[in-house]
Amino acid sequence: MKFFVDTADTADIRDLAATGLLDGVTTNPSLIAKSGRKFLEVVEEICGIVDGPVSAEVVALDHETMMKEAEILRKIADNVCIKVPLTIDGLKTCKALTDEGTLVNVTLCFSANQALLAAKAGASFISPFVGRHDDNGFDGMALIGDIRLIYDNYGFDTEILVASVRHPIHVLESARIGADVMTAPPAVIRMLSKHVLTDKGLEGFAADWAKTGQTIL
Ligand code: G3P
Repeated sequence: MKFFVDTADTADIRDLAATGLLDGVTTNPSLIAKSGRKFLEVVEEICGIVDGPVSAEVVALDHETMMKEAEILRKIADNVCIKVPLTIDGLKTCKALTDEGTLVNVTLCFSANQALLAAKAGASFISPFVGRHDDNGFDGMALIGDIRLIYDNYGFDTEILVASVRHPIHVLESARIGADVMTAPPAVIRMLSKHVLTDKGLEGFAADWAKTGQTIL
């Protein structure tokens, strides 16, 4: 399963990229606002840090203006992936852009039928929001399972990008189901490395090593 980080914080992206874990980055208008930086500048900087897809979202609601925004965004770098909302205008934009060979991530997906539409429109990625689905009393991971089943039934190439990931169990379940990608905030990715027995083991080794009175350096 590929790991994308869901942030516009370039310090976090650089730090995680150094671990070799990062296969891409996702941003959205809320994350850009949180960064306090200019949208186009921050996307350009992120594209220079990671080789994989960097999702940059259009903000227009109509197809014609989405295409104009996408034109500007895709000129930033070859690894820009245009993020469009799961609306009829977003799907038209998805079809037009993917026909031209541009990567497209269809976002704000909350049902398996929406995911089916995105695949039929040729999306490179579909982003079902599991955390927000859970928040509203639905089963986010069941949605991922349904999309996996449907895409496999028909051999769609669209990659399932699990979004709105809030905790390590979302990551574990995504991998069990066979999602192609998950995108999570930096804190959740770092949390995956944590285990109480790892910490306890390190404490024990450090204490025993101190008893030897030796140093390696
Ligand atoms: O980038 C889309 C998605 O990952 C947002 O997550 O936590 O705002 O629901 P969240």
